[in-house]
Amino acid sequence: MRYASAVDRLAHLGSAKWAIHIAGRQRAARGEKLIFLSIGEPDLAPPMAIIDVADRQMRAGRLRYSAGRGELHLREALARHYTRQTGRTIGADQFLFLPGTQAALAVTFMAIIEPGNEVLLLDPYYATYEAVVTAPGGIPVPVPLDPDRGFHPDLDAIERAVTPRTRAILLNSPSNPTGAVFTRAENLAIGEIARRHDLWMVSDEVYASMIHGNHTFHSPFFEKELEERTIVVSSISKSHALPGFRAGWVAGSADFCDHLLPVSETLLFGCQPFLEDATAFALDNHFDETDAMKRAYLARARVLMNGVKSARGVTTHLPEGGMFLMLDVRGTGLSGEDFARRLLDEEAVVTMPGESFGARGAGHCRVALTVDEAIMGEAAARITRLANRL
Ligand SMILES: Cc1ncc(COP(=O)(O)O)c(C=O)c1O
Repeated sequence: MRYASAVDRLAHLGSAKWAIHIAGRQRAARGEKLIFLSIGEPDLAPPMAIIDVADRQMRAGRLRYSAGRGELHLREALARHYTRQTGRTIGADQFLFLPGTQAALAVTFMAIIEPGNEVLLLDPYYATYEAVVTAPGGIPVPVPLDPDRGFHPDLDAIERAVTPRTRAILLNSPSNPTGAVFTRAENLAIGEIARRHDLWMVSDEVYASMIHGNHTFHSPFFEKELEERTIVVSSISKSHALPGFRAGWVAGSADFCDHLLPVSETLLFGCQPFLEDATAFALDNHFDETDAMKRAYLARARVLMNGVKSARGVTTHLPEGGMFLMLDVRGTGLSGEDFARRLLDEEAVVTMPGESFGARGAGHCRVALTVDEAIMGEAAARITRLANRL
């Protein structure tokens, strides 16, 4: 049988990135004890009140087909949330409810990319970005971020990467994997480039609620003059530790949402009403659990940082946001890939090689801050042991 070229385009983008994680899983299945720091899955329990709403609403029969855009009451909760965040009135017609940020990214690029169009990815970038651009025939164009500047954007490099075929720039702040949080000045400067070349700014804000230290979250969507070209994709997967709910959304101009609707409807005939109810509840309320999660990620990052202080050739900095920390292992002389492989083989610690997130991730390993402080301390001791043996 004949298959679409998209299948071939996507085939090489998957499993190689996860080779070390998959090897770790196989060893764990054989009974070995390993410390997994490879996957960004929240380990702390979600606020039970949200689960209660989903449960109650399911039992109350909220199980029918719902509207293609998402039900109005949920979009109104989203509108309240973004009105609070942006300080200007955001309407319920500026959202589509979708099963997660990943789905939101996929339909967004289907709606804005023609085959042969280029999309700028700030490198290192989240592991699925190449695929969401490539699926509709787009060409991912990595723009290097400088590890020695905390992986903050290099505006000249962005400008230089723009060609007549460029249609969009994909932003992710707080970043997975780097932990960088872009400042307002950076977003405005990128916005200026986007305005000059008429580009979309797709802003993946799945870690927006996890800002550490004295950093502040800023989105291009906060700027009225960038609203028409900004598309925010997000979810409650990380903010409320509910990735299995697959509850996410797109936020943008009303015009963009109108254009996106027929694309998203080819994929979904509406979403799950009981999850829409639970998501609206999550957005309208404050939960101590989510504050505790944020504190826990930062405390774990500190434990790891302190624990690897004496590791030869390894440096780190605290993440500005999100739930990951980058170990800079360039000083060991090993690639991120080789360090991660030896860490697995010799110390039973599973991390993600920085190379899995693009060329600029080279010489780094990404650590997910998803184990408690005691286990993180043990992981740090093992990392130090390996580094000092090299
Ligand atoms: C940067 C980034 N975007 C999107 C996703 C996917 O999120 P969701 O569960 O909302 O699809 C993840 C998950 O790890 C992520 O790290």
